[in-house]
Amino acid sequence: MLIGFIGLGNMARAIIAGMRESEAFRHAPIIGSDHNEVKRREMEERWNLTIVADDIAVAQKADLLVLAVKPQALPVLFERINPSRKRGQCILSLAAGRPLSWLEETLGADTPIVRAMPNVAARVGGSVTALCKNGQIDDAQKDLATAMFRAVGQAVWMTEERMNAFSTITGAAPAFTFLYLDALASAGLKAGLPKPMALEAACHMVMGAAKLALETGELPASLIDQVTSPGGTTIEGMHTLKALGFENAVHEAVQAVMEKEKKLREGK
Ligand SMILES: NC(=O)c1ccc[n+]([C@@H]2O[C@H](COP(=O)([O-])OP(=O)(O)OC[C@H]3O[C@@H](n4cnc5c(N)ncnc54)[C@H](OP(=O)(O)O)[C@@H]3O)[C@@H](O)[C@H]2O)c1
Repeated sequence: MLIGFIGLGNMARAIIAGMRESEAFRHAPIIGSDHNEVKRREMEERWNLTIVADDIAVAQKADLLVLAVKPQALPVLFERINPSRKRGQCILSLAAGRPLSWLEETLGADTPIVRAMPNVAARVGGSVTALCKNGQIDDAQKDLATAMFRAVGQAVWMTEERMNAFSTITGAAPAFTFLYLDALASAGLKAGLPKPMALEAACHMVMGAAKLALETGELPASLIDQVTSPGGTTIEGMHTLKALGFENAVHEAVQAVMEKEKKLREGK
């Protein structure tokens, strides 16, 4: 199956780099196009991508066509490629806020379509990618999409309804985590540590804590119990975070992202 990318920006580059570093796609033929000459050249030289004339040429040749352009660029792109897209082609859209129903309306209800929402950690193979599909996708197409996103982290299939909530956590919450890391590093600075040292310690701590929760399968509440001894120091900090509304702030932040996404989907 020939894979083609339209758009070779940040996300396409992360995915293609991950694919080239995985056994499954190391030598697989991948074609692509982008408006930008520098991006085209970089992908050709660094990641052995075959650059074709333009978006129409990718759409004419690819069996799996990855749409890696900004969501607002899709209507113009479809006008260009729809008349000459390869028959039976599977579409893989990375666009936020463009549901399967919208894609089917624009591409035809008989088009096999996958939506994928990776996150910024795809750059280091640490994405958690939400995937959903329409009824036209066959097992081979589903397996191919799974393999592509396993090359940059985890691939999790779900219904489209779940995808919105899931990708709020995986898409927006990295920024919340960077905020938390920055706050920990400046608290470390205040306590007398050089900031780079405090930041590195905070990053390793977050990775270690997440690994512990994942690998033991223990609930966070149980892990909290294990690190808070009676009359100890950690419970003082936990009490302060709770008193200042830490959990509530996280809930409100997730809600705010979901509300904004809904407004964008409705074109408000
Ligand atoms: N970046 C992320 O962390 C992330 C996470 C989840 C999902 N996504 C999704 O991934 C998609 C791509 O995002 P991105 O951040 O990679 O965007 P990006 O860095 O702006 O890359 C998009 C590239 O596509 C090019 N392009 C647009 N229309 C084209 C066409 N018709 N033919 C050839 N090239 C074309 C753009 O060129 P011009 O700018 O010159 O038009 C640009 O170089 C978006 O739908 C986004 O919602 C991104």
